[in-house]
Amino acid sequence: MSIPITAARMWLTRGTSPFRFTPHYDQPLPLEGARPLGLYVHIPFCRTLCPFCPYCKVVFEEELAQAYLNGLLNEIHLVGSQWAGRREVTSLYFGGGSPALLASRLGEVIAALEEHFIITDGIGVEFHPRDVTPDTLSLLQGAGVTRICIGVQSFQPLSLQSLCRERPDPQILGQTLAAVPFHTVSADFIFALPGQTFDHLRRDILLAEEMGANHLAFYPFIDFSFTPGPSQALSNGEKRALLDQLTAFLRERGYVRDSIWTFARQPGKGYSSMTRTHFLGFGCSATTLLQGQFKVNTFSISAYLERLSQGKLPTALTCRFTPRQRMVYDLFWRAYTTRISPSEFESCFGRSLDGAYGLELRLAQAMGWLRREGEDWVLTDQGAFRFHVFEGYYTLSYIDRMWGLMGREAFPAGMDL
Ligand SMILES: C[S@@+](CC[C@H](N)C(=O)[O-])C[C@H]1O[C@@H](n2cnc3c(N)ncnc32)[C@H](O)[C@@H]1O
Ligand code: SF4
Repeated sequence: MSIPITAARMWLTRGTSPFRFTPHYDQPLPLEGARPLGLYVHIPFCRTLCPFCPYCKVVFEEELAQAYLNGLLNEIHLVGSQWAGRREVTSLYFGGGSPALLASRLGEVIAALEEHFIITDGIGVEFHPRDVTPDTLSLLQGAGVTRICIGVQSFQPLSLQSLCRERPDPQILGQTLAAVPFHTVSADFIFALPGQTFDHLRRDILLAEEMGANHLAFYPFIDFSFTPGPSQALSNGEKRALLDQLTAFLRERGYVRDSIWTFARQPGKGYSSMTRTHFLGFGCSATTLLQGQFKVNTFSISAYLERLSQGKLPTALTCRFTPRQRMVYDLFWRAYTTRISPSEFESCFGRSLDGAYGLELRLAQAMGWLRREGEDWVLTDQGAFRFHVFEGYYTLSYIDRMWGLMGREAFPAGMDL
């Protein structure tokens, strides 16, 4: 565990307790106070597996995928039967894996969720570019999908080579997307890859616009310990220069930063499954964040199906937060969106942000990392870069360790982070 992350955790949570994950789980789920709430569904199938990708996924097999979908419907009804009527939720996102491989049944999953939830802010689906076809898009549009996100990664041969990905054709994608329009068309890119320059990124942005994207994500390449490659090549200084040039270029073209690594061309055109105050996750590896706990489902498809066949939730590990741990978790994701709202904090935690973290916020302001905008605290560009560096530590100290363990064991005995 890295020293800066442990020190920051102890300082901000005002205690020495780690985030302790145990196999004990709650059924029914403790949903009191979980408002606003978002939904996430994980589809862990891909045609081929990319060497850089840390997500929970296996190669698509028809029979297994159909059995998984049936398990998913069981999990949805198991959770949804906890209450009578329909509960309001903001959004629903399908991630993976490659959810579009199961496009013919995503409508069934949406209908099952709509028996228990009213979705007020649209439905999003993540795509591998080769699944972006007129038939698949029309099917999903008919099922109520309003936002899509396409994992382009890069249009440049050098980066595609290091990622072992084929070059998507921006013209064909553009024609297909023009024929079946969506409210948000987001494109994912990876930056800080070996040999990548700002000129590569600039060309990628212009091609993404030609393709019809109105929201762009640039994720810094993370070299997870349990994935085969490629390995990290750029220094922090080089990353800073790239991120600064990228941000300036996107602003010139009228984009607004809506999180550390994402930029929207028009207001409201966001794509984000991670930044909710509370969310319910369904499927292998899906996480659920409630008022007092964070839980993660097993990464093993067979263990997932087995648990559900016994009428039990497929939860593998649960972390029960101390009040300060919950606040820090929430502030981390608010800072990721680059905006922290004191009134949202107060309505969630019943105490003022100033009372809880006034000293830290003022220190960050003095360092030039935060500024005031009305009542909100907003990250400056310098603050965004600091957060980006911190997120790198966080990913390697927390996510890499947890996903590494969950990939090896269906139901681990527990872990401290
Ligand atoms: C679930 S993944 C992929 C979605 C889709 N299946 C695809 O292949 O395009 C979501 C996004 O995470 C990002 N990503 C995956 N692995 C990464 C890594 N090692 N470092 C940084 N970003 C990564 C990619 O930009 C990717 O589009
Ligand atoms: S990047 Fe996409 S297609 Fe590749 S393994 Fe990950 S989820 Fe599957």
